[in-house]
Formats: sequence, structure tokens, C-alpha cells
Amino acid sequence: VATGLLARLPAALAPATPAFVVADENTLPLLPPALAHLPRHVLPPGEASKSWAELERLLLALDAAGLDRDSHLVAFGGGVVTDLAGLAASLHRRGIPWSAVPTSLVGQVDAACGGKTAIDFAGGKNTIGSFHPPRAVLVDPAALASLPGEHLRAGLAEVLKTALIAGGELYARTLELDLPALVRADARATAVIAGCLSVKDGLVRRDLHDHGPRRALNLGHTFGHALEALSLRTPGAGLLHGEAVALGLLCAARVAGTRRGVGAGLEHRLRDRLSAWGLGTTRSGLDPDAVLAEMRRDKKRRGGRLTLILPLAPGRVEVLEGLDDDVVRIGLGALTPGC
Ligand SMILES: NC(=O)c1ccc[n+]([C@@H]2O[C@H](COP(=O)([O-])OP(=O)(O)OC[C@H]3O[C@@H](n4cnc5c(N)ncnc54)[C@H](O)[C@@H]3O)[C@@H](O)[C@H]2O)c1
Ligand SMILES: [Zn+2]
Repeated sequence: VATGLLARLPAALAPATPAFVVADENTLPLLPPALAHLPRHVLPPGEASKSWAELERLLLALDAAGLDRDSHLVAFGGGVVTDLAGLAASLHRRGIPWSAVPTSLVGQVDAACGGKTAIDFAGGKNTIGSFHPPRAVLVDPAALASLPGEHLRAGLAEVLKTALIAGGELYARTLELDLPALVRADARATAVIAGCLSVKDGLVRRDLHDHGPRRALNLGHTFGHALEALSLRTPGAGLLHGEAVALGLLCAARVAGTRRGVGAGLEHRLRDRLSAWGLGTTRSGLDPDAVLAEMRRDKKRRGGRLTLILPLAPGRVEVLEGLDDDVVRIGLGALTPGC
């Protein structure tokens, strides 16, 4: 993680010699001239590109470029680009090495690191994929200067999640982080991004396949995924993933308050920080039964048990097994306007 890294990109990738670049239409203009001569594949921006059809197009492009087992692929973009390019890298000739150069905040603190690659399939999100960790994740916070504000804010929800899991200095710095600092990519913002990346990297190293400690990263996601999926079914009311995670963090904090006696201060601090960043912290018209049904559907698609990660304190989370109507109702109470 370093500002100005993009300008030094080929050198920063060494000893790997990049052979192919995957970007999307919005990130292509940021591609350093030193990589512009490489064969490349450019995706239409947006989640819709994490599809079987786009995966096939990319695999055909890798084939046409004649990449062999040692050819190094560079994924240059947000989570959509790194998820799809990482999956293609894991499939081409049974797997070629790749590096991620994440350009969105979600990508920098989360998606590019950890080795999970995926497309959306048969109506489910991230249902086809692989574990294929990149050789390197190279983060230039200065790339965030051109990121649209809504995506910056959505990324901040993932930052807060990671900081809450870690506690300590990262949490304190995150509570002080403001949007202008992030857009300027000043030293404080860079420290927070580096801190989040290192927390995720530490969890992934202990548990690549997500059966143990890595599950902490699901904080805010049990409610978050359900609210995201439900929102996408109402035209015009769609939430970005990070916006849904922001709400999910508050639900998890509320359950921790009610079921584990965690003081209300934690939920208040999270709410204050999220709204200071311009993220929504309430949601009206939610039907608890529909939310629970969506959680169950999500669990079925992803496999595993229905669990909720509870924040007990900064730096301390606990896994709550078995979710019932009661827990869902308590959690959603955190989103009632005026609560
Ligand atoms: N693999 C994982 O562990 C993991 C973790 C979290 C999220 N994800 C996935 O990541 C995706 C979300 O990532 P995202 O939020 O980065 O989405 P994204 O890749 O769609 O990027 C958001 C938007 O910002 C644009 N953009 C990116 N960088 C830019 C820049 N520097 N300047 C201007 N525009 C820029 C993109 O073109 C896009 O329009 C989801 O599909 C999610 O499932 C994966
Ligand atoms: Zn997430």
C-alpha cells in the first residue's frame, strides 16, 4: 500500500512480468502507460459483468493471446474486475499466476485480497468461483480520487467492519477518518487502508477456506446480504453492497446489545460514524419474515449454517449460531427510523 504506486507499476510487480491486463471501462483510463502495450480485455463496468458470458469472453481472450502456464495476469479495477479476472486466472490452463491492482475502496480493503474469486450464477451472488490467491495485491490509495462518492461511502462500511473486528488503533483511526482525507489519500487514510488489508490478510492466512477465524469478516453481512438481495427486487430501491453492510452492522450491534448485554454506546458510535460519512442508517418497511426467509435462502446457496457475528467490543466478536424470528426482529429494530 503506497500512494504513487500506480506510476511505479511494472517495477512494483517484479519479479513477475505482466503479460495481460483485465480492466473495466472506468478503470482503463487509470492504467499506467507502462502497461498500455500489453494485450488486454476491458469489461463493461458493473456487477452484471460477473457473468458466465463475460467469463467465457475473457477466457477466449486469454486463449487468443496465447498465455501459457507461467503468464502473469494483472487485474486492474474494483471487486468486479478482480473477482472475474481471478476466476479466469484460476481456470486458464488449470491456473496461471495473477496480481490484483484494486482501484475501488471495496477492492483495496476487501475484494482483491483473500483469494476468493467468483461470478454470479443461477440467480445467486458469487455462487461459482474458486480459491486462487493473487501473488500480489498492490494498492495505490490515490486511485480513489476518481471513484464516485457512493462507491467510496459503500467501501467505508467495509472499512468500519474490519476496524471493528480488529479494534485498537485501527478502530480509533477509522472513527476519525473523513471523506476528504480519503479522497486526498493522505497519510491517515493510507494507514487505515493498509490496516484493513493487513487484518484481512492475517485472517485469510489462518483460514483461507473460511471455516474458522475468517468468518469474523462476515460481520454485518448476515443482515446485510438479506437487505441487499431484498432491495434489489424493488426497482429504484437497490442498495449497494456496502450500503447494506452498513445497515447490517447496526443490526448485529443491536442484537449484541440485547442478547449479550453490550452497552448501547457501541451501536451509537457506529451509527454516528456511518451517518457522518453519508451512509443511510435507517430503513423503513422491512418485513422481518421476508428478511429471515432471505437469510435462509442465502445460507442454502452458500452452504454452511445460518450464523450471526456479534460485535461484543472493538476487537472482540462472537459467533451466534442459529437465527430465529426473534433475533431478526431485534436486529431490524436498529433500523427503525427515529429509534
Ligand atoms: N472476493 C472477495 O473476497 C470479495 C469481497 C468483497 C466484495 N467482493 C465483490 O466485489 C464487488 C464489489 O466491488 P466494487 O465495489 O469495487 O465494485 P466495482 O468493481 O463494480 O466498482 C465500483 C464502480 O467503480 C468503478 N471504479 C472502480 N475504481 C474506480 C476508480 N479508481 N475511478 C473511477 N471509477 C472506478 C467501477 O468501474 C464500477 O463502476 C462485488 O461483486 C462483490 O461481490 C468480493
Ligand atoms: Zn462485504
